Amino acid sequence: MGTAKRQPWVVGVSGASGTPYAASVIRALLAAGEAVDLIVSRAARLTILDETGISFRDAHWRTDLAAWLGTDEGLDDVRYWPAGDFAAGPSSGSYPAKGMLVVPATTGAVAGIALGLSKDLLQRVASVTLKERRPLVVCVRETPLNGVTLKHLVELDAQGAIVLPASPGFYAGGSTVRELVDFVAGRVLDAVGVPHSLYLRWEGELGAAARKGGSDGAVPAEGE
Ligand SMILES: Cc1cc2nc3c(=O)[nH]c(=O)nc-3n(C[C@H](O)[C@H](O)[C@H](O)COP(=O)(O)O)c2cc1C
Repeated sequence: MGTAKRQPWVVGVSGASGTPYAASVIRALLAAGEAVDLIVSRAARLTILDETGISFRDAHWRTDLAAWLGTDEGLDDVRYWPAGDFAAGPSSGSYPAKGMLVVPATTGAVAGIALGLSKDLLQRVASVTLKERRPLVVCVRETPLNGVTLKHLVELDAQGAIVLPASPGFYAGGSTVRELVDFVAGRVLDAVGVPHSLYLRWEGELGAAARKGGSDGAVPAEGE
C-alpha cells in the first residue's frame, strides 16, 4: 500500500528508417515522468545500427539504450522486453499499460497489427492494446505507400488506432533535423496527452516560421 502502481507507455520500435523519432519520444516520455516499456523488433536492430552505429543487444539493453538516447537520465523508469518474449508483461491485457506508441512503424508492422498477426512481441502488444481499447499510435514511415499499406492504415483507423505518419510540419519554424524530428515526436505525445515542449505550437500567426529563421535554416535578409 502507498506505492503508486507503475503504469507504463509501451514504446515499440520497428525496423523503419527514423530511429531518431523513437529516441525523441522515449526521452520526452521520461522527461514527463512517464514510465516506458520498450520493445525493439529484430529488424529495428538493423535500422538502429545503420542510423546510429549502435549494435542494440538484449543482454546490454541499458548501456545500448543510453548510448542511443545520448543520456542515461530516467533509465530507471524503463523496462525492456525482448521482441521474441511472448511471456513478457505487456503481452497480457491484464498488464497495466497506458497504451502503446509504435515509432517508427514499418509497413510490415502496420500489416501485422491491422491483420492481428502477432508475429512478434511488438505486434502482439499492439493487438492487446487494441482489444483493451487503449490508445495505440502508429507512426508509419514509408514513401510512397502502396495500395495494400493504404488499406491496412484505413483498417487500423477503423479499429481505433491513431495513424500518425512520420511527416514533419514546417510551420513550427524548425531549422535543424533535430527540430523536425522533435516535431514528429511531439505530435506522437500530443496524440496521447503527454505534456512536452518539443516544438512551437501554431498560434494563428502566418509567417512566424519564416521570422524564426525559416525551415531551411536560412535567416531572411533585412527587408526580405
Ligand atoms: C536500413 C533499413 C531501412 C528500412 N526502412 C524501412 C522503412 O522506412 N519503412 C518500412 O516499412 N520498412 C523499412 N525497412 C524494411 C523493414 O525493416 C522490414 O520490412 C522488416 O521486415 C520489418 O520488420 P518489423 O516490422 O518486425 O520491424 C528497412 C530496412 C532496413 C534494413
